[in-house]
Amino acid sequence: MSMHDQESALRAAFDAHGQGHVFRHFGSLSPAAREAFLAQLAEVDLPLVARLIAGGGEAKTDMSTLEPAPCIALGAAPAAARDRGETLLRAGKVAAFTVAGGQGTRLGWKGPKGTYPATVVTGRPLFRVFAEQIAAAEKRYGCAIPWYIMTSPLNDADTHAFFRDNNWFGRNPTDTFLFPQGTMPSITFDGKLILESPGSLAVNPDGHGGALRAIHSSGALEDMKARGIEQVSYFQVDNPLVRIADPVFLGLHASDDGSSGEMSSKMVAKRDAAEKVGVFCRAGGKTVVVEYSDMPAELTNAVDAHGRLRFNAGSIAIHAISVAFLDRLTSGDFALPFHRAKKKVPYWCDDRRAIVEPTEPNAIKFEAFVFDALALTRTSLVMETARTEEFAPIKNASGDDSPASSHQIQSNRHAGWLERHGVKVARRPNGDADARIEIFPETALEADDLADATLPPAIAAGSELVL
Ligand code: UTP
Repeated sequence: MSMHDQESALRAAFDAHGQGHVFRHFGSLSPAAREAFLAQLAEVDLPLVARLIAGGGEAKTDMSTLEPAPCIALGAAPAAARDRGETLLRAGKVAAFTVAGGQGTRLGWKGPKGTYPATVVTGRPLFRVFAEQIAAAEKRYGCAIPWYIMTSPLNDADTHAFFRDNNWFGRNPTDTFLFPQGTMPSITFDGKLILESPGSLAVNPDGHGGALRAIHSSGALEDMKARGIEQVSYFQVDNPLVRIADPVFLGLHASDDGSSGEMSSKMVAKRDAAEKVGVFCRAGGKTVVVEYSDMPAELTNAVDAHGRLRFNAGSIAIHAISVAFLDRLTSGDFALPFHRAKKKVPYWCDDRRAIVEPTEPNAIKFEAFVFDALALTRTSLVMETARTEEFAPIKNASGDDSPASSHQIQSNRHAGWLERHGVKVARRPNGDADARIEIFPETALEADDLADATLPPAIAAGSELVL
């Protein structure tokens, strides 16, 4: 099709959907800018956008039937689970999968979040933390663990450059597969697409749920199958404490007792009712995650006969997902629902002839969430884990879930590991470690690995230790 024909067809389609305003600067664009803009417009799924504007295609859970989801309590996994997980790892059937396509707006870091210096003493960036952990697991299990990383069109080039500049963290580049997710256009509160410049739409990555489509369309899934991968260890880029190759969790998930096998999840007990995490629930005979913002307050605050939160199973966005499940979903006609969020989206102001950064939310972003795939599983299990062992997210610049809180949890975890081997660690009255402690994955992937390490007898208040 000639550019002229493409323009006519797109103008007609956008007009028909009440979105013809996006062409208002088209006449002033250079030929190259016109071509790029038409290519971007051609990607927009106008019928889907129209459905979403009209309120369809969105996530809906019947809150009146919600029950807490059953969970395998901390430490209650049978010993056979670890054996099964280790067998999977040794056989090279496990891949790592990081979703790193988010915009990280709350943290405000310029650059992909995976490049953020996350560790307590040496400030190693998140991508390095994961690469080193994968390398240590590969050594332990004598296997290759291919690593799939979902970027977005907005950070893909910078992520590639970071890996290249860091010599792929010593990994074979062919075992590291970066691919971008799709995008969704943002809309104004009255349902209009937004120009972020005269020749481009304001778009956002289509949510971590976009991973399921992108893993298929990028060829990553085919690559996994060609390598004989059976299980995928899914995690977010913002949690430096994630255990990527956890044999107990993988073994539970892959057990042949019919309890899961398609998509399993880890949870931690919620800190308090107000904590902003999704909660595992049962609805319609399925395990689902209900976002904190969607949960009615009377359920969020409900307590049981012992005074404990009834809906207590906080999601930490760690899943084991089988390749067979990904294949089943993506080869069929599946669609995850979209969630809408009010956000600040920079837009092109015709009067000022400039991009304006709004100070208040001015737009709606649509995102799919990966946990909505749980409702598409036949069965699914949830395993409890200890917050200090596995969850130190970096989301905000300060306060909860910030670099400072993550550092404290990282030090707390490592303090606990050292104490199990007789080291006396200074603690504050609230129980936090009063020292900055970093342990490299090469030294220990879990507490037991320190059994043969040379350890100091004590760690004084205010000191630093790197092992
Ligand atoms: P968050 O929900 O914390 O969002 O993502 P974010 O985009 O990183 O940060 P904010 O909300 O703009 O501050 C959780 C995880 O999901 C990934 C993120 O990279 C992070 O690992 N993610 C999120 C994607 O991969 N794609 C998306 O479209 C959204």
